[in-house]
Amino acid sequence: MLKIVNVSKKYKNNNVLKNINLEINKGEVVSIIGKSGCGKSTLLKCINRLETIDDGNIYFDSIDITEMNISDLRQKIGIVFQEYNLFEHLTVLQNLTLGLTKIKKYSDIYAEKESIKILKKIGLEDKINSYPDELSGGQKQRVAIARTLLMKPKLILLDEPTSALDKEMKKEVINLIISMVKDDMTLLIVSHEEDFVNKISDKIIHIQNGKAIIQDNKNKKEIE
Ligand SMILES: Nc1ncnc2c1ncn2[C@@H]1O[C@H](COP(=O)(O)OP(=O)(O)O)[C@@H](O)[C@H]1O
Ligand SMILES: [Mg+2]
Repeated sequence: MLKIVNVSKKYKNNNVLKNINLEINKGEVVSIIGKSGCGKSTLLKCINRLETIDDGNIYFDSIDITEMNISDLRQKIGIVFQEYNLFEHLTVLQNLTLGLTKIKKYSDIYAEKESIKILKKIGLEDKINSYPDELSGGQKQRVAIARTLLMKPKLILLDEPTSALDKEMKKEVINLIISMVKDDMTLLIVSHEEDFVNKISDKIIHIQNGKAIIQDNKNKKEIE
């Protein structure tokens, strides 16, 4: 599904990514770990074309992503950031329906129906008319993930989805991600939660000095 071939990226004279190669197949869960500043977010941004690459190619379903229409690419590859990125001036429901009506062109009625369905699934139906600043960090992150899920991307990138959260809230978000793994979604997750990463991942990517070291984790994976 995703193929990263000899990708390099530098900021001025900072060679962040050096000749990265990585393949993600449909239904696989791949995690990225590595020290702060090693280039994990940069790699995710390159995959979604939020950053350009200096060398190499990234293919999605065999098409070079630079040749894809950007809106099409971002509908196929959803991204969830560490800091939620919800629209503060919109309610939870409005945050969820926005992409469905504006990008997917679904009717308001259909968008609301689907949004309510997913809010029930993540246990936040009582927050439907709340604004993001009335939610806890864990609730915000679950809404942010739900918003991405509603767009039905083929691949979801999650950048440290639990790192801004305390222990209880982490658990809520981790449980949501586990349910996504069980639904056979294709995921690329940056996370420092070692136990969690070991449990869900088919492959673990260690980024060290700009290089990606790939560890096969299929035998240790506990969630199918
Ligand atoms: N837009 C940018 N301009 C210049 N340097 C950047 C930019 N974004 C990230 N960097 C640098 O690139 C390196 C990798 O950053 P990042 O991918 O955010 O690391 P990580 O997500 O692994 O913590 C860091 O040294 C960071 O300072
Ligand atoms: Mg980062």
